[in-house]
Amino acid sequence: MSKLDAIGFGALNVDKLFKVNRIAAAEEESYVFDHSEACGGSAANTMVALARLGCKVGFVGKVASDAEGRMLLQDFRKEAVDTRGVTVATTGRSGKVMGFVGKGGKRALYVDPGVNDKIKLDEIDCAYASSTKFLHLSSFAGKQSFETQKGLVERLPAKVKVSFDPGALYARLGLTKLRPIINKTSVMMPNAGEIALLTGKTDYKAGARLLIDEGVEVLAVKLGNKGCYVVGRDESHLVEPFKVKVVDTTGAGDAFNAGFIFGLLSGKNIKEAGKIGNFVASRSITAMGARSGLPTLDELKKFLSTS
Ligand SMILES: Nc1ncnc2c1ncn2[C@@H]1O[C@H](COP(=O)(O)OP(=O)(O)OP(=O)(O)O)[C@@H](O)[C@H]1O
Ligand SMILES: [Mg+2]
Repeated sequence: MSKLDAIGFGALNVDKLFKVNRIAAAEEESYVFDHSEACGGSAANTMVALARLGCKVGFVGKVASDAEGRMLLQDFRKEAVDTRGVTVATTGRSGKVMGFVGKGGKRALYVDPGVNDKIKLDEIDCAYASSTKFLHLSSFAGKQSFETQKGLVERLPAKVKVSFDPGALYARLGLTKLRPIINKTSVMMPNAGEIALLTGKTDYKAGARLLIDEGVEVLAVKLGNKGCYVVGRDESHLVEPFKVKVVDTTGAGDAFNAGFIFGLLSGKNIKEAGKIGNFVASRSITAMGARSGLPTLDELKKFLSTS
């Protein structure tokens, strides 16, 4: 099987955003005046970002035979993400996140994980999931798919590097529960809050050190408008963010992950990879949604040639 640069493994969702006159409480009625839909999921966003940068990428995940499932697959194909590893369930619903946004900007979110949470290890083609330089993991809401991720990383050949963005959902599980994945992780990319949830250390530098001592090779701690902090076995650097006009930070972390992985795939050191992560994230937040601002390889090359 020809080798890909990265394969994502995480939840696949269609994000449905409803603008409403106000968020209805129980027994109340409200009305929708605008509606938009976009494909999402953290690892999925990261794979799309890598594809825009010219990387060969694929995905392991699950959708149902419904309109959302077709939309998720079509979108991946449009973005040149290989879909051979996506299982299509004959029953159940594809993952959805329904967001209701009131006029004041307040949001109510309803997550329907659907078949995302029903991924079994025997549905995954282990040879396919191993045909990559990086297997990139993001979280699932339910236990079954988490167990499957643990089972898959256990079976991966040593030449496949695991990259891992735990998000708050997995960080909250704590170190003991997450250790089977962390012990196999080469590159971990949490934000500072997630480091605290996971390690109990509010000082992200101390938390990062603890994870390095757990065996993680490289950590990039995402610090929002403060950039990132990258750590390897014998070095650490604070990497300055890029000053941009912020439009929407949705998916900033996912875009960062893509830039950081791209840097490592290109043989850059961790400081340079952190800078590329910050750059890709900074482009993403200048446009609405998780994907519309993502840069192309040409834009990144232009940036690298002038920086
Ligand atoms: N205001 C900002 N200005 C410049 N860069 C930013 C800003 N906010 C975020 N970034 C960039 O985006 C990266 C990721 O953002 P953040 O630290 O919020 O990650 P996150 O909490 O994982 O995000 P997400 O909500 O997407 O999961 C940062 O490391 C930084 O490079
Ligand atoms: Mg994040």
